[in-house]
Amino acid sequence: MKLRKMTLNINGADRMFICDPEKDTLASVIRRLGLTGTKVGCGTGVCGSCTVMLNGKLVRSCTKKIGKIEEYSEVLTIEGIGAPRYLHPIQVAFMHAGAVQCGFCTPGFIVSTYALLRENPSPTREEVRDWFQKNRNICRCTGYKQIVDAVMNAAKVMRSDCALEDIMVKLPEDKEYYGKPLVRPAALAKVCGLADYGDDIELKMPENTLHAVLVQPKVAFHAKLKAIHKEEAEKMPGVYKVVTAADIKGPNRLGFMQFTPRTLASGQSHPILVEDKIFNYGDVVALVVADTKAHAQEAAKKVTIDWEQLPEYRTYLEAAMPDAQRIHEDHPNVWSEQPNVKGAGHDTPQLIDEAPYVVEGSFYSSREPHMPIEGDTVQAYWGDDGLLTVHCKAMQIYSNIGDIAEATGLPAEKIRVVENPTGATFGWGIAAATYAMAAIACLACDDMPVALSITYPEFMALSGKRAPAYTNGRLACDENGKIIGAEWDCGMDHGSYNELGDDLITRPAKFMFFPYNIPNCLGLTRVACTNHNYGTAYRGYGSPQAYTASEALMDMMAKKIGMDPFELRYKNIARPGDTNINQYPFREYPMEKMMDLMRPIYEEVKERAAKESTPEKKRGVGIAWGGYNVTEGIFDQCTVALELLPNGKFAKYDTWQDQGQGGDVGALVTTLEALKPLGVTPDDIVLIQNDSKYCPDSGATASSRQHYMNSKAVVMAADELMNAMRKPDGTYRTYEEMVAEGIPTKYETQYNNPEDMTLKYLDPNTGVGNPTPAFTYALHMAEVEVDTKTGKATCIGYWCVDDVGVIGNIAAVDGQAYGGLSHCIGFALTENYEDVKKHNNIAGAGIPTIKDIPDNFNLIHHCTPRNTNPFGSSGASEAFQSAGHMAVINAIDNACGVRIYELPAYPEKIKEGLDKLARGEEILPPKKYFLGSDFYEEMEYIKNNPMTDLFEDMFPEDKKESYQPITDIPD
Ligand code: FES
Ligand code: FES
Repeated sequence: MKLRKMTLNINGADRMFICDPEKDTLASVIRRLGLTGTKVGCGTGVCGSCTVMLNGKLVRSCTKKIGKIEEYSEVLTIEGIGAPRYLHPIQVAFMHAGAVQCGFCTPGFIVSTYALLRENPSPTREEVRDWFQKNRNICRCTGYKQIVDAVMNAAKVMRSDCALEDIMVKLPEDKEYYGKPLVRPAALAKVCGLADYGDDIELKMPENTLHAVLVQPKVAFHAKLKAIHKEEAEKMPGVYKVVTAADIKGPNRLGFMQFTPRTLASGQSHPILVEDKIFNYGDVVALVVADTKAHAQEAAKKVTIDWEQLPEYRTYLEAAMPDAQRIHEDHPNVWSEQPNVKGAGHDTPQLIDEAPYVVEGSFYSSREPHMPIEGDTVQAYWGDDGLLTVHCKAMQIYSNIGDIAEATGLPAEKIRVVENPTGATFGWGIAAATYAMAAIACLACDDMPVALSITYPEFMALSGKRAPAYTNGRLACDENGKIIGAEWDCGMDHGSYNELGDDLITRPAKFMFFPYNIPNCLGLTRVACTNHNYGTAYRGYGSPQAYTASEALMDMMAKKIGMDPFELRYKNIARPGDTNINQYPFREYPMEKMMDLMRPIYEEVKERAAKESTPEKKRGVGIAWGGYNVTEGIFDQCTVALELLPNGKFAKYDTWQDQGQGGDVGALVTTLEALKPLGVTPDDIVLIQNDSKYCPDSGATASSRQHYMNSKAVVMAADELMNAMRKPDGTYRTYEEMVAEGIPTKYETQYNNPEDMTLKYLDPNTGVGNPTPAFTYALHMAEVEVDTKTGKATCIGYWCVDDVGVIGNIAAVDGQAYGGLSHCIGFALTENYEDVKKHNNIAGAGIPTIKDIPDNFNLIHHCTPRNTNPFGSSGASEAFQSAGHMAVINAIDNACGVRIYELPAYPEKIKEGLDKLARGEEILPPKKYFLGSDFYEEMEYIKNNPMTDLFEDMFPEDKKESYQPITDIPD
């Protein structure tokens, strides 16, 4: 290898370094010099997270070969723009406009903004958007709107049109922080490029840390593994060991939980490293561990396998065919199911047959990839405290510990999990496969510290995705458009492994036709294993699949009756006295008021769209109702601790994992509210989070649960602490006084959802249940333009009226809203992970760029205080990514008459529909899907084979009678 000495002027100073002119990129050199504010996401020039300035021009440093750069060139990185004590106005603007969520893209955006404002100090919003489009700055978290806001604010300050203070969030003088847009505590490090994400931590690990990479053969979706040839790799320079399943002392499986007696799987089917069968394209057969990442990567190429092709079933429909072989020996491919039987129940089909208006169709909801800009990277080492410590993107630290323990065979008490600053996961961080891999590598390599690196294409092939779903559905209405009944058969493709798959099927069983009044229904949701990527958590988990069918049927019904789709929905939303498909009252009834808020906007946009529609560019408006549950229901619990510190501040300990959504600011604002009687300010709160050594188990960052659960637990802790501090005269003891009197200064409390006896898990025979202490609601409206020449649909406007209860931090809720809605738009139009070769990077898989998301992006918050939460709040995430895609799909139909039955609405599908219409042909739904057995026979079978609820003993009493929904909805 021939090296080169070079000097570059970096951030104003000449920096001399030695590099490999062939292999090094500008990014690798900068990062080796310690300037890790420049992040590498995709590594292939498509995401912009590595953006720096080179001789005054923006470049994506990950693809800029160092050997092609002139000596003494000038480089500007995020570190050269500003630092915590000397922040640049752009950095201030990003922090205060809520433009920073996970923050992984942030340095790239800030450098890009710096270049823009040098060139054009007074850009319009459209020019800002053009700039980020041209320079390929991609953000997966924010939905872009708050980023453009930040740029406009920074430009004003830089032009001296306003003072810096004018663009900063002002802290309320009355110390009423709840609901205000507090800046996220972690934002400062992120805007300065000082937050160390997984790759940065790896780069900074001590000497002798080993580096592990995957051996991911990518040869087949289903194969018998006959042999792994690792001898040649083991002889390669620097290789420590090639780790295979045979080296694992534990079971090599993650934990398993059964949620319904109808589950036929007997245990976890996910081997961390392949044993005797490859179950999907991204399966990992070995880990190559070496002294450097480069050595490990070179050696990994030398590992080969002998394999024998097995029949591949890449979709539910293939796996459910009667002649399909079992993918997993212990259970059939269709392995669990959840029915809904309400009102006329089994007689519903007959009611539908006889109804005046009936629509039916089959709908496919696609395999949506999460596409965080940061992929996956994990470190594992034995700490000096005797704990095997795993640093990762953990989304449920304590459950992840359980998974690692299960896989490795180590006792859970010997494992510590720390969440690294996380470049978002949107749900896949719940799965512990890669966390377990790093732990396995550490244990197999004589307890040496190991850093596991995964390239973006490897990550795409390896990670779980949103489970696709195939639904056959029917909906019946009377002459006035009032719903008589509905029927559905939904099959969810859970991919190669069963983790949580039987929990997933409870989601369509809650959200099909939510939040309408469906008096009679007969429904079934089934789950099958296939040979594609396994299904995993993703914001809105399990609900978008339901809305894909039910919100299409609602629109189809409106068309059939000749009624406005808004009016049909207004007529059928649930009102006090109506029950949901689980036969309980909705927890609250804000639906009518939310529609009243949307109505004038709908009328205006509808009129404008009709006026501006042309034969070449047709415009339309679509509506869709969505919503989600809050918490994991009867299983949920949350533990936190509060401590009075010697300096008079308060430490809050929790595992409110920050996946980009703002776990830090959530913990801050709820703690401030809980300790309000003490008159605390943000500076008084010290957050100690997401390290199992110090923090109690606050549960997963999932199911829109953290804000709801954490606020309950922190109120309990605050009460205990304040009671302990309170003197007889009502004043409060200081830390010294507490210690002097021997009063403990730290209080750990746990809130348990099971204490809420109104909760009831779904009945395995009927779906009757009351699974959540609150719901969230979102009414989505999209305005779409369809280019009739190409079939390309663009979302040009979006409105969402939501009700997530009292808002704790408006900036965080807005962030989740814009972010979730932007995923909805992508899900409708471009995103997919089906073709493992084409979809192996964010561009190929259709991540929305800034021009795919409208700037005309509007939120209307309707806040019904939740009576089961001390602050009136619920959760604020998943409603925003529940049904928005169907607003877009319905808008396409409204614009040009093309109903898209199978997502995503690629231009060629719309074009095909337009061509059909031009020929006078009808656009028919796909042929009814066969989901493993005849729907009616299966429902009859369930009726004749009732099963006992697994959780019956936990909750013997049905407290339906004492249940009080919220009907007093504020205006
Ligand atoms: Fe360089 Fe994505 S463009 S990391
Ligand atoms: Fe932009 Fe997360 S904040 S990718």
